[in-house]
Amino acid sequence: MSQQPITVSVIKADIGGYVGHSSVHPDLLERARADVSGAVDRGLLVDGCVAYVGDDINLIMTHRRGIDDLEIHRFAWDVFTACTTVARKLKLYGAGQDLLSDSFSGNIKGLGPGCAEMEFVERTSEPIIVFMADKTEPGAWNLPLYKMFADPFNTIGLVIDPKMHKGFEFEVHDLIQHKRVKFLAPEELYDLLIFIGAPSRFCIKGIVSRETGEPAAATSTQRLNLLAGRYVGKDDPVCIVRCQSGLPAVGEVLEPFATPHVVAGWMRGSHHGPIMPVSMPDATPSRFDGPPRVVSLGFQLADGKLHGPRDLFTDCAFDRARDKANEIADYLRTMGPFEPHRLPLDEMEYTTMPQVMQKLAGRFEDI
Ligand code: F6R
Ligand code: MG
Ligand code: MG
Repeated sequence: MSQQPITVSVIKADIGGYVGHSSVHPDLLERARADVSGAVDRGLLVDGCVAYVGDDINLIMTHRRGIDDLEIHRFAWDVFTACTTVARKLKLYGAGQDLLSDSFSGNIKGLGPGCAEMEFVERTSEPIIVFMADKTEPGAWNLPLYKMFADPFNTIGLVIDPKMHKGFEFEVHDLIQHKRVKFLAPEELYDLLIFIGAPSRFCIKGIVSRETGEPAAATSTQRLNLLAGRYVGKDDPVCIVRCQSGLPAVGEVLEPFATPHVVAGWMRGSHHGPIMPVSMPDATPSRFDGPPRVVSLGFQLADGKLHGPRDLFTDCAFDRARDKANEIADYLRTMGPFEPHRLPLDEMEYTTMPQVMQKLAGRFEDI
């Protein structure tokens, strides 16, 4: 077993939808897989897996270069650029949409793609789960991560596993003020919750074990930029969670998704909807461009090799969560353009408000 740290980097982008925003074209996956296998052959990556959720391509990569590595980020950028060429030929919808810059400038963060990374020394056995969501935002991980790492009604290990009993440290980012703060669970739970209960602004970036100081979870939470008076840059998120042996068991990590929580996103990034746990082939959000989906891929890491994936939400025990998500979707859809189905004015990705206001400006009277 190697004592040399391994880095898991999950970098994702929507570089063209098939059809509309519902799925990824197989030719793009083929292109990405060829590039990833080339990078393994030439030693840049130890291993790699190309996955998808909705219209997003996810590169799940292991390597020895640490987080925020220029070559790894450049490689992901080049894969997405090559896929964009294929997407343009096929005239896929929104080809190249997540490549916000004409060129790569050192770190993929802020250039469009989402990125979650974690560096650690592999344990005797290293089960990890990569979560990938479509039609929602990074704050969608707040509730499930809280349940996994701080709620004893979800994670019995917090109560009865001596290696978990000390709890976990949560790093929370304020996406608007660009600040971060750390909280100790369980003693600061109430302080933690006042922030992460507002997932459009405060997002869990990472979680660390207080027993070992080891990283346990990392998300693709990224700062938002104020453009044209609105905050932009929220994106379909990914999250990496290490499991077992002093960390939540695989079943404790999956359990929060047995009850679909309501997240922001869905049609035009402007609606609340239930997040539905599905297998990768079922991650094709079509009804009202949704409802939002989450896929969980399990891997056993062995000297950096990704043994897997096991597509964990294929378990029929999640059938009822899917049924419930459909019921919640039916109910919320009855509200049409009204809040709280539609997002509040300052959180919608699309709005006509400035134009409508301008058109009607002369008709507003003082009261
Ligand atoms: C949501 C999403 C879609 C689009 C919608 C309209 O994140 O990507 O729901 O917003 O299909 O797309 P346009 O404006 O490109 O026609
Ligand atoms: Mg899209
Ligand atoms: Mg997407």
